[in-house]
Amino acid sequence: MSSIAADIAILYTKACMAKAFEAKNVHKSFGGKVKALAGVSLSSEEGKILGLLGPNGAGKTTLVRMWATLLQPDKGSLKVLGTDVMKDPDEVRRTIGLAGQYAAVDEFLTGRENLYMVGRLYRLSHKEAKKRAQDILERLHLVDAANRPVKTYSGGMRRRLDLGASLVGHPKVLFLDEPTTGLDPRTRQDLWDIIRDLVADGTSILLTTQYLEEADELADKIAVIDRGKVIAEGTSNQLKSKLGGDVVEFEVATGTQVDPAIQIASQFSSKKPTSDGTTITMPAKDGSKGLLGVVRALDEANIKVESIALHRPSLDDVFLTLTGERAKDVARSASTQKRGKH
Ligand SMILES: Nc1ncnc2c1ncn2[C@@H]1O[C@H](COP(=O)(O)OP(=O)(O)OP(=O)(O)O)[C@@H](O)[C@H]1O
Ligand SMILES: [Mg+2]
Repeated sequence: MSSIAADIAILYTKACMAKAFEAKNVHKSFGGKVKALAGVSLSSEEGKILGLLGPNGAGKTTLVRMWATLLQPDKGSLKVLGTDVMKDPDEVRRTIGLAGQYAAVDEFLTGRENLYMVGRLYRLSHKEAKKRAQDILERLHLVDAANRPVKTYSGGMRRRLDLGASLVGHPKVLFLDEPTTGLDPRTRQDLWDIIRDLVADGTSILLTTQYLEEADELADKIAVIDRGKVIAEGTSNQLKSKLGGDVVEFEVATGTQVDPAIQIASQFSSKKPTSDGTTITMPAKDGSKGLLGVVRALDEANIKVESIALHRPSLDDVFLTLTGERAKDVARSASTQKRGKH
């Protein structure tokens, strides 16, 4: 092989191997006091979705802003498609799109005008910017509302327009910071479909979320982040299997003493069962055998059970184990705070 051919082969291999996102030992403090990121290392393959999952103040937006060249790390390095964000921020900016946590569109312009304006900022000609705006309006199902001012849009329509604005520059890499917070389940599903379409077209996506089912549905890889650190990463199934085995949950009839039931449960449980007063949750030693054993023993002890179920640990169980908080409580407190901010 000639040396030029060899060089091309090396460059080609490098290009193929480039990760979409790469962070190494990233630290960031604000005003010397708030340690937003405390040594984050993380990467994701091209053409995949990396989900950053974590409670309020975990450091998700800080990390996204650094990858998107809007903020500099105190220490560590970040790359997007193999390009160092500190060494060549212009190149990174050419390849990325960002839909931030708070809608960045102009309320007084129409949806079409917003997209046209972004197109012009990308130096598209008048004709190209008009065409691009129309294409995106169609893709995001916003044609009917295209000529109305954004202030008349619903929350879901704004989020879609925001996503649309981030698509104007045909980004290879897309950052979506809590794309569906505050949306109803149906609108969230619509956005998920759009995100899946983008990935099918080869876009690499990093999305932050506080919704477990969103990470579960969309992300090829999930990084759970808490207090500026990645505390777990892997596919949804890998995270779930870390908890080990199946979980049996049963509810004792009203008026029944719960302590004897917990004692019985502990004989068939790999860890100490937990209880909220009526429902007892236990990691089953042998899956369905554990379930049968508990049912028989409860029956023999004359403890009346309202319902019983065997399930694989959910991502919610993972989140609880890792962060000590139920994800739904985190999401609830987040939406209350956000409502307060506006
Ligand atoms: N510009 C800033 N100045 C001071 N502190 C900041 C700044 N930006 C972020 N922080 C702090 O850094 C920490 C991480 O914030 P960040 O916005 O990254 O969290 P998050 O995971 O995105 O949270 P949320 O789910 O609420 O959006 C928080 O303690 C936050 O208060
Ligand atoms: Mg955030």
